[in-house]
Amino acid sequence: MSWKFSVSHSLPLFFLFFLYSFPLISTQHNDDPTFKTMHDFSGYPVDESSHTFTPSNSSSLSVDIQALQKQIDELSTFSDTPAPSVTRILYTENDVLARRYVKNLMGLAGLSVTEDVVGNIFGRWDGYEPELTAVATGSHIDAIPYSGKYDGVVGVLGAIEAINALKRSGFKPKRSLEIILFTSEEPTRFGIGCLGSRLLAGSEALAEALKTTVDGQNISFLEAARSAGYARDEDDLSSVFLKNYIYSAFVELHIEQAPILEEEGISIGVVTNIAAPASIKVDFEGNGGHAGGVLMPDRNDAGLAAAELMLAIEKHVTESGSLDTVGTVGILELYPGAINSIPSKAHLEIDVRDIEESFRNAVINKIHKAAKSIAKKRKVTLSEFKIINQDPPAHSNGSVIKAVVDASDELNLTYKYMISRAYHDSLFMARISPMGMIFIPCYKGYSHKPEEYASPQDIENGVKVLALTLAKLSLR
Ligand code: GLV
Ligand code: MN
Ligand code: MN
Repeated sequence: MSWKFSVSHSLPLFFLFFLYSFPLISTQHNDDPTFKTMHDFSGYPVDESSHTFTPSNSSSLSVDIQALQKQIDELSTFSDTPAPSVTRILYTENDVLARRYVKNLMGLAGLSVTEDVVGNIFGRWDGYEPELTAVATGSHIDAIPYSGKYDGVVGVLGAIEAINALKRSGFKPKRSLEIILFTSEEPTRFGIGCLGSRLLAGSEALAEALKTTVDGQNISFLEAARSAGYARDEDDLSSVFLKNYIYSAFVELHIEQAPILEEEGISIGVVTNIAAPASIKVDFEGNGGHAGGVLMPDRNDAGLAAAELMLAIEKHVTESGSLDTVGTVGILELYPGAINSIPSKAHLEIDVRDIEESFRNAVINKIHKAAKSIAKKRKVTLSEFKIINQDPPAHSNGSVIKAVVDASDELNLTYKYMISRAYHDSLFMARISPMGMIFIPCYKGYSHKPEEYASPQDIENGVKVLALTLAKLSLR
């Protein structure tokens, strides 16, 4: 693929990789009596002329959960805030260090590592029919401010361990298997979620917008990307776009980020749909003034307009007619930000979601109307009402769902069909590939906060299901 450039590994790293991979390679002898055919392993008929042998059954898949937990812990140290919180923002020093850590692990797993110009990272294990479309998996490693260490990370480091487990078992993929570390699933720095996967899915609007996008410090996206070693010679990001159906399937492992699996004592969530997210930026502007000098009837307080809009959002969301509608104002900034100064400007960022796009869109329209009427009533200007993204929901693909269900069954793990109310890179991968997701329980459903936790047993289960799912999909 000409749009990717190779990552060069240092000599010591190559040596380490060689040492590490030798026992894996040497266990893949066809005459080892413990190895049976692909069919035995996968349940799918395969061409016996393929010369590949696999373990007798899925029970020979062993996940090194100690090593994986250690990697999750180590990766969490690349953070801008102290443990147990994790803050890892796109293209910062800690993000670059964390990326390097993951690329090293990919190299040690024997994957060929490439990156695109925005830093989506690909680790590929060639199948024995490499001309077939590959099967992909992956997630993100960026973390919102004061977040936890499992969101996204389980789907990246877990994928590498899934490949290691498949290699140890003697499995050889027919279709190549590819792990993707997606750039900036979180919207923290540039205000747009799933930046990397959105571009992979071919968003021309985003590629264009990123030429002029700046962060809160007025650092441009391209400047930030360059400081992290990406987008070196080009402003045109269209090289990131993937062709439709470049992958035969994409499957993402992720913590649930809700309490259902834990509460019901179920090991695996099989995701059927991903809710439709939207985000909106709003600015109100008034005259500001002295907190002592300007009497109440004479004020046009942008902060109060924002407060009133926040309450209107809660009302419209709760009265949408759908329990699934959620709305959050996670960012509220008042200017000039002095106790004795009436806010002259208020900036809000609003997140609205529903499984049904129509419910969500109806709420967005009501929020817009409310913003206009509040501005009129409070004699402030609604200087911005910008819908940053208003994405449709995604539906998992039946055959990917079946592979996850079959894998769970074969591993004797309980599972449940569920909706993802959080968004994921899978939302965008579904635009260019059949998609599915595997959820594992997390403590009390906590996520996007330092208390986020998934038990080693649940992670191990998820990695096994992922490994077996990848194996099945690769044989199709
Ligand atoms: C992803 O992090 C989301 O906000 O759903
Ligand atoms: Mn997240
Ligand atoms: Mn995530």
